Amino acid sequence: MTVESVKPAQPAAPQLPVPPLAGGGVPVLGHGWKLVRDPLGFLARLRDHGDVVRLKLGPKTVYALTSPALTGAMALSTDFKIDGPLWESLEGLLGKEGVATANGPRHRRQRRTIQPAFRLDIIPEYGPIMEEEARALAERMGSGEPVDCTSESFRVAVRIAARCLLRGEFMDERAERLSVALATVFRGMYRRMVIPAGPLYRLPLPANRKFDRALADLHLLVDEIVAERRASGQKPNDLLTALLEAKDENGEPIGEQEIHDQVVAILTPGSETVASTIMWLLQVLTEHPEHAARVAEEVKSVVGDRPVAFDDVRKLPYTNNVVVESMRLRPAVWILTRRAVTETELGGYRIPAGADIVYSPFAIQRDPRSYDGHLDFDPDRWLPERAKDVPKHAMSPFSVGNRKCPSDHFSMAQLSLITATVASRWRFEQVSESNDATRVGITLRPYRLLLRALPR
Ligand code: HEM
Repeated sequence: MTVESVKPAQPAAPQLPVPPLAGGGVPVLGHGWKLVRDPLGFLARLRDHGDVVRLKLGPKTVYALTSPALTGAMALSTDFKIDGPLWESLEGLLGKEGVATANGPRHRRQRRTIQPAFRLDIIPEYGPIMEEEARALAERMGSGEPVDCTSESFRVAVRIAARCLLRGEFMDERAERLSVALATVFRGMYRRMVIPAGPLYRLPLPANRKFDRALADLHLLVDEIVAERRASGQKPNDLLTALLEAKDENGEPIGEQEIHDQVVAILTPGSETVASTIMWLLQVLTEHPEHAARVAEEVKSVVGDRPVAFDDVRKLPYTNNVVVESMRLRPAVWILTRRAVTETELGGYRIPAGADIVYSPFAIQRDPRSYDGHLDFDPDRWLPERAKDVPKHAMSPFSVGNRKCPSDHFSMAQLSLITATVASRWRFEQVSESNDATRVGITLRPYRLLLRALPR
C-alpha cells in the first residue's frame, strides 16, 4: 500500500466500512486490561488483525494503526491533530502553551521560533559542549563505582540540552538540578497518565510529596533561568533569546506564560527521550561486546589516540548505524496518538471525526513484514545498499510531518558522539543488582541499568 492510496477521501467517507475489532476484549474493560498488562506485546500483536483495528478501552473506541504506510499517511495528513487523554494529562502537568501540545496557527508560529536553534548548519556550534559533556561522562564512568546509567544518562542529556539551547555560565549548577527534577517528574507523570486517580495523588504520601516538589522545582528553575537572562541584558544567539523575542500572530511579544511553557515543552521531551536512548545504547554495548569492539576499532582508525571530536562523528558510519539500530529495537518513543479533526479515511476504513488514534513505533520498527531478522541487532542493515529495502516510514523514531521532532540532527549528533566516546574507552559488564528488562513509562528504558566500566 502506498501513502498516496491512503490519502483522506474527499468528501468524508460515511459509506466506508468500520475497521475490524481486535480480538481478546473483555466485558466493561474491553482491551484496556491487556494494554495496561502488556502494552508492547499487545500493540505488536494487533498487526495480526489488520492495518487498522478498533480497540475498546472501557466505553471508548480507539483506532490503532499497524502499518508504516498508514502511520506515515496520518502523520502527514492535516485531518489529524495533537489531542486526546495523553496530551491533556501532559498539559495539566507541564503547561498548556508550549509547542508540543499546540495546534494550528499557534503551533506553526511556535515551530518557526524554535526551528533555527536546531538547523543542521547550527549544530556544529554546539560541538564543543557536546564533546565536553561526552568526555565528562566517560571520565565519571571510571570512578570505580558501578555506573548508575539512569542518573548518568539524564545528567548528560539535560546538561547538553540546557547548556546548548539556554546557554550561560549559570547553567552548570541549574542543569544538575534540572536533571534531578526531570527524572522524578517523568517517573510520576506516567503513573498519573495510566492511572488517572486524581484524589489519590493529592494525598500527603512520600511519593506524592517527592513528585510535587520535583514538579515545583522544575517550574521554579525555568522561571529563574528566564529571569536571570532578562536581568543580564545579554542576547546570545540561542533558543532562549529566540523565545524571549518571539512575537505572536498580531506582532505582539508573546506572554510570560507562553515563554515559560515553551522552555518546559522543549526541555522535557529533550531530556527523557535522549536519556532513555543513551541508557539503551549503554545496554546494547554491554549485551553485544562484538559490536562495541567494532565501534572502538572504527573510532581508533579515524581518531587515533586523541579524544573523539564532534567533527569525527560523520566519519564513523558503523557507530552511527549502531545508534540507529539501537533506536529501531528500543525506541524511546514507543506510543503516539492523534485525534481526527474531521471524518476521514485510513486504509479504506471510515474514521469518524473526534476519533482517537494510536500507533506504536516499537511495533512498527519490529515488524517482520518490514525487517528480515526483525529481532536481530544488526547495525549493517543500515548500510545504504540494504537500507533502501526498508519500507517508507518503517523507521521514523523522530516521526514525520508537521509534528516531526525538531531535534533529530541535534539528537543524532550527541548520541553518536557519546557512543563513540564511551565505547572507545570502556567495555561494560552488568553488576549483579542491575536489571536491564524493559520498563514501560512515558518512554521505554531499562529498569535499572548498573554497569561496571572496564578499560578497553
Ligand atoms: C517531538 C522523538 C529528542 C524536542 C517529537 C516526536 C518524536 C520525538 C517521535 C513527535 C511526537 C508526535 O508525533 O506526537 C524524539 C527522540 C529523541 C528526541 C527519539 C531523542 C532520541 C528531542 C530533543 C528535543 C526534542 C533533544 C529538544 C531539546 C521535541 C519537541 C517536540 C518533539 C519540542 C514537539 C514538536 C511539535 O509538536 O511540533 N520528538 N525526540 N526532542 N521533540 Fe523530540
